[in-house]
Amino acid sequence: MNGATLQLDRITSGYRASVVIRDVSFKVAAGEALALLGKNGMGKTTLLKTIMGYLPKKQGSVQVNDGDITRLSPHRVAHAGIAYAAQEKALFTELSIRDNLRMGLEKDSLFDERFADIETVFPVFNARLKQYAGTLSGGEQKMLLVARALMMRPSIILLDEITEGLQPSVIERIAAALLHERQVHGTTLLIVEQNVPFALKVADRYLVLKQGEIEEQGDANAAGATESIFNHLRV
Ligand SMILES: Nc1ncnc2c1ncn2[C@@H]1O[C@H](COP(=O)(O)OP(=O)(O)OP(=O)(O)O)[C@@H](O)[C@H]1O
Ligand SMILES: [Mg+2]
Repeated sequence: MNGATLQLDRITSGYRASVVIRDVSFKVAAGEALALLGKNGMGKTTLLKTIMGYLPKKQGSVQVNDGDITRLSPHRVAHAGIAYAAQEKALFTELSIRDNLRMGLEKDSLFDERFADIETVFPVFNARLKQYAGTLSGGEQKMLLVARALMMRPSIILLDEITEGLQPSVIERIAAALLHERQVHGTTLLIVEQNVPFALKVADRYLVLKQGEIEEQGDANAAGATESIFNHLRV
């Protein structure tokens, strides 16, 4: 099994003088899936960018298993086994589906074996590997973004609102792909979402972020989890 532990300890970060994330600590165990929920502008993307090293930490530390990744560049964080499906479009639209998928591989010879796994969860790409990514529909591009992360066989995947604007059948497909990934590879997931049913379906636990602080947390399968989350998202 692949999964690694991700641990944030008292992370504070933001943009230049502005503090967005305030003293956030949590741990995602190896193979566990944690949903990070919260309304628009609460700091979810900022937190993922901080973990990835796109934003400097003003305070605190990030550990993967026993390794300190607090000060690593995004490239090195990826190398440490963390894949990131960003909220903003991050595909190379002028490149083929195949070239997008092989982007994170250390060597091309890994492609066939890795893609064989992807094919079963996203059959939409079979026989279309030469097609330009830019010609895919919005939903297909989101699936490609997830597929690219899976191709890296990461130990941790960070997903930023991957279901945003997608129709139910595509959301189902992505949920199935992530559950498959957990089952087969034991990958650790950190899922930023506004789609609460999707998040609770895939995750074991959830956190609600409000103005950059953890305001509530619980077990995704607990009776009343949905109601409690909506109460926190309403105000
Ligand atoms: N590049 C930036 N420079 C300065 N402030 C920023 C920057 N990007 C985001 N912010 C601010 O940081 C705060 C948190 O934004 P963030 O994008 O992390 O929220 P979010 O929870 O991901 O929201 P959404 O659900 O809408 O994606 C917001 O107040 C936002 O305006
Ligand atoms: Mg965001």
